[in-house]
Amino acid sequence: MSGKTSPFLERLDAVAAETESLLDRLLTAAPVRGELARPARLIEAMRYASLGGGKRFRPFLVVESANLFGVPRSNALMAGGALECIHCYSLAHDDLPAMDNDELRRGQPTAHRKFDEATAILAGDGLLTFAFDVLSREETHPEAAVRVELVGALSRAAGVGGMAGGQMLDLAAEGRFGSIRHGANEVRLLQAMKTGALLRFACEAGGILGRASVAEREALTRYGAAVGEAFQIADDLLDIEGDPALVGKSTGKDSAAGKATFASVLGIAGAKKRLSELIAEAENALAPFGPAGATLVEGAHFVAERQA
Ligand code: IPE
Ligand code: IPE
Ligand code: MG
Ligand code: MG
Ligand code: MG
Repeated sequence: MSGKTSPFLERLDAVAAETESLLDRLLTAAPVRGELARPARLIEAMRYASLGGGKRFRPFLVVESANLFGVPRSNALMAGGALECIHCYSLAHDDLPAMDNDELRRGQPTAHRKFDEATAILAGDGLLTFAFDVLSREETHPEAAVRVELVGALSRAAGVGGMAGGQMLDLAAEGRFGSIRHGANEVRLLQAMKTGALLRFACEAGGILGRASVAEREALTRYGAAVGEAFQIADDLLDIEGDPALVGKSTGKDSAAGKATFASVLGIAGAKKRLSELIAEAENALAPFGPAGATLVEGAHFVAERQA
């Protein structure tokens, strides 16, 4: 995936490869206990939307935050895989004609272009539900209380008060439902919800799996919130300045759609300044972990510097 390599990129690529093979193993054509059948077109579309691409940065955050507490990697990968299912569903729906109307995702035709709109909607529904199936399994954690905590936290991060709510605010900010005034505070909330919430959950999941102390969890939440906000600012800057061949999706679409972004309210320089403040904030949040937090510190820098 990455052109040049480094110990950090090797760690990221390792999580990506392990997430790929886990999702490949879980998203089988054959039904599992309690299911009646897996319609071929639907499981094929779910696999299309979730396999064969993506940085897998959210699973990486789960694995590396869980690593701080010595959580078995197989448990962290299950939680990361569940989160990636939610993320991939959000992308399949985000790309639909009724939403961002995009044709390219991860360098390939979007799910509704490859299949059809109804199938892409159902593939999203299937992945969303599948995430909670994965979290509920003993393979994710031997203790039921830990699994329930993960389910609760991911529900809140993905739903009306998190990602789905943020997508609503994102569409409203285009002015589709009536003209709306938005400044930096409104953009911050919108982005913290549509993108930040899932990234924050990724970091919190490590603390939940590792039964971390309140102070440790607070540090991870602070880090996750900063990285989450930074991630969307970087995405918005890539939409303006990125190389479409590297980004793997069409660029220049946000301003054409009238999206509210930090770049649209603060300008490119303002958005870059905010991005570097957030990376510093993320780094500070990890101070309590000392050298053990080094990979997550590098993760924050990766968010700001990524080309894709
Ligand atoms: C893109 O997410 C959508 C946003 C929330 C900004 P990623 O940049 O993580 O996309 P993939 O998973 O690597 O393709
Ligand atoms: C997506 O934001 C956030 C999601 C919840 C999917 P964007 O609409 O900017 O993501 P891209 O640029 O299409 O990947
Ligand atoms: Mg969008
Ligand atoms: Mg989009
Ligand atoms: Mg974007």
